[in-house]
This record gives sequence, C-alpha cells and structure tokens, in this order.
Amino acid sequence: MEFEQKPAIEYWEHRWANNQASWDFGKTQIALIQLFEEKKFQFPAKANVLVPGCGSGYDAIYFSQLGYDTTGLDFSASAIQKANELAANSQAGPGQLQFVQADFYKFTVPSSLYQIAYDYTFLSTVKPEDRIKWGSRYADLISPGGFLVTLIFPIDFGSEVGPPFQLNKEMCHQVLDPNFDLVYQDLNPNKEPPRTSTSIMAIWKRK
Ligand SMILES: C[S@@+](CC[C@H](N)C(=O)[O-])C[C@H]1O[C@@H](n2cnc3c(N)ncnc32)[C@H](O)[C@@H]1O
Repeated sequence: MEFEQKPAIEYWEHRWANNQASWDFGKTQIALIQLFEEKKFQFPAKANVLVPGCGSGYDAIYFSQLGYDTTGLDFSASAIQKANELAANSQAGPGQLQFVQADFYKFTVPSSLYQIAYDYTFLSTVKPEDRIKWGSRYADLISPGGFLVTLIFPIDFGSEVGPPFQLNKEMCHQVLDPNFDLVYQDLNPNKEPPRTSTSIMAIWKRK
C-alpha cells in the first residue's frame, strides 16, 4: 500500500496488521538509555510523559520503568495492541503506563499538559508541509519549562516522498524555534546494529 494513496491511518494500520513494521527493532533505543544513564540530562523527577507514534511501545515502557507516568499514543489499533501485549510481558515500572489509540493532532490534551514528550521516528512520518503543524501541536501539549526530546532520524537516507522523510536539525529549528529553545544536543548519540546510520539527540525546552 502506497503512503499517498490512502489516509495515513490506513497506511500505518495496514503495515502493523500485516507484519510490515520494518522500522521496529524490538528494543528501547540505546540513545534514549544513554541520555538517562550516561548523559544524565536533568529532567524533572516527576513528569507526565507523552510518546506519540509509539508503535509497539518499547520507549514508552522505558519511561514508565524510570518512574514517569507515561502515555504511549498511536492511531494504529494493531500497534496499540502490540504495545499492550509488550507491556503485559515487561517488568512494570513505578510510573503509570497507558497506551492510547488516538491521532496526535486530535486527541484531548489533559489540562495538566505534559512535562516531557519524546519523538523518535514520528517526525519522519510527517509530510514536509505538515511539519509546522507538528511543531505547534507539541507547543500546545508541553507545559512551559517542559521538554521535547527529539531523536532525529533518518538523516542519511529517506526522501521527500517518504516515509521515512529525510530529516535534519535545521528543519526542527524552523518549526520549533518560535516556541522552544534548544538546550541540549548530541550529534553522535549511541547506536547499535542494525540501525547504525546517523541520528541526532536534541532536547528543546518549552518557552
Ligand atoms: C515509523 S513508526 C515508528 C514507531 C516507533 N516510534 C518506533 O520507532 O518503533 C511511526 C508510527 O507513528 C504512528 N503515527 C503516524 N501518524 C500518527 C498520528 N497522526 N497520530 C498517531 N500515531 C501516528 C504510526 O501508526 C506508526 O506506528
């Protein structure tokens, strides 16, 4: 199924339901673990975390194991089912964990907002003309002083007719600078096979 031919939700649901989740390497991203265990970026000790486009949920589960109340969000029913199954078979964390089937741009945002959001490969699914909407939606979701963590990927490949759409840090600056300050970057975060191509870890603080 071609991305352009159907609404995005049908494209992604089709891929999940037919075992075509070729991006899913079945583990928490090592760069995210590095951010907490080695880089020790100073996030608030208590925070509501949002992981949009969470897929099968590895990274959301990791946040909950760190103690954060975490919402993994994906509009694919099959992805959410996989995430719930994975959570049931994973070590429960001290943080509450929920997976919600909903559209990033339409779900009802809690009045408390989120203090941390984590975007890995979700931006690579966003059409170039929708990136402004992506950035302003994060501004609506994250409380002042809160953090948007972007593990920017892919940089070396992808195309203008993705997904994945090829990304770079300047694109993020263009759409995030009105509402966020870049407060951290790692141009060479840890990576592991089979995903050894370039990524950038960048953290943006909500103004
Ligand atoms: C490339 S996958 C990445 C999944 C996960 N982040 C990972 O790295 O394994 C992108 C995910 O975003 C979801 N997605 C795309 N657009 C979405 C939207 N508007 N709202 C919610 N989920 C969306 C898709 O269903 C898919 O699971």
